[in-house]
Amino acid sequence: MARPKIALIGAGQIGGTLAHLAALKELGDVVLFDIAEGTPQGKALDIAESAPVDKFDAEITGANSYEAIAGADVCIVTAGVARKPGMSRDDLLGINLKVMKSVGEGIAQHAPNAFVICITNPLDAMVWALREFSGLPTEKVCGMAGVLDSARFRHFLAVEFGVSVKDVTAFVLGGHGDTMVPLTRYSTVAGIPLPDLVKMGWTTQEKLDAIVQRTRDGGAEIVGLLKTGSAFYAPAASAIEMAEAYLKDQKRVLPCAAHLDGPYGLKDIYVGVPTVIGAGGIEKVVEISLDKAEKAMFDKSVEAVKGLIEACKGIDSTLA
Ligand code: APR
Repeated sequence: MARPKIALIGAGQIGGTLAHLAALKELGDVVLFDIAEGTPQGKALDIAESAPVDKFDAEITGANSYEAIAGADVCIVTAGVARKPGMSRDDLLGINLKVMKSVGEGIAQHAPNAFVICITNPLDAMVWALREFSGLPTEKVCGMAGVLDSARFRHFLAVEFGVSVKDVTAFVLGGHGDTMVPLTRYSTVAGIPLPDLVKMGWTTQEKLDAIVQRTRDGGAEIVGLLKTGSAFYAPAASAIEMAEAYLKDQKRVLPCAAHLDGPYGLKDIYVGVPTVIGAGGIEKVVEISLDKAEKAMFDKSVEAVKGLIEACKGIDSTLA
């Protein structure tokens, strides 16, 4: 059987890291696509030359034309611009919306059967627009944010408790922005919910609140340190986990920006929720119960995403 084909639209910091991880994990052949001439070809050749050392079998190529993504099984989209210090993800909206239009059309024409994972920010609005521009089925287009946000939360919790990240689960709902909702009640160490760990004296409520805030600011913290761009290792690892769930029909329960039309009482919006990812794409949206405070935070996050989607409609009348 032929290897799956993974098309990476955008060969920048995240795109290059995605290609390397996909190759190391032998998920399939990789095509890096970018408008910058030489960048996808150079990164592809560099990674291909690491294959004899790392012993993976995968064809890695680079291209500047959409024909190269023909028949891709998975497309991961990072095309666009990244944040600089002082910018919010929302500041990228106007520029990246235009990029989503060309990417959506390229995918529709050359890889209409792909499972599409969008990473470009502002995530929830960009994945909504990408779905509109591509016309692909909603269950085949999703956004990567929740896996990353919960990975950041898990890392901070593991450090605080002095335990392995493997035993920490965390749950983050809502939009991938300042209003994201890390849910402590649904986050655990080996099944013990965080509020119980506070009662057990493992940490204090103040420290937990600070970790929640640090999770919300996780992207900005990295931008502030790097100064020339935004995070790329953890975002790439997170999207690869989603791609692998699809390619191997793993039925993983992963939080991601999914199209909601009914669940959580929402209509035609993309926002972060727990989902089941398998060969059908987003096979299921998991609807969890929220208490009053959690619901208020989720509603606020949804309103922020709705505002960005309205802004997209204002910029591009074909979306209205
Ligand atoms: N088509 C294809 N590629 C494009 C296009 C386009 N229309 N416009 C820009 N690009 C390419 C750029 O040439 C660049 O190589 O997208 C790439 C983006 O790479 P980086 O600037 O390194 O950004 P990166 O860190 O990879 O982040 C990409 O993901 O997390 C989000 O906020 C982040 O929106 C940003 C995206």
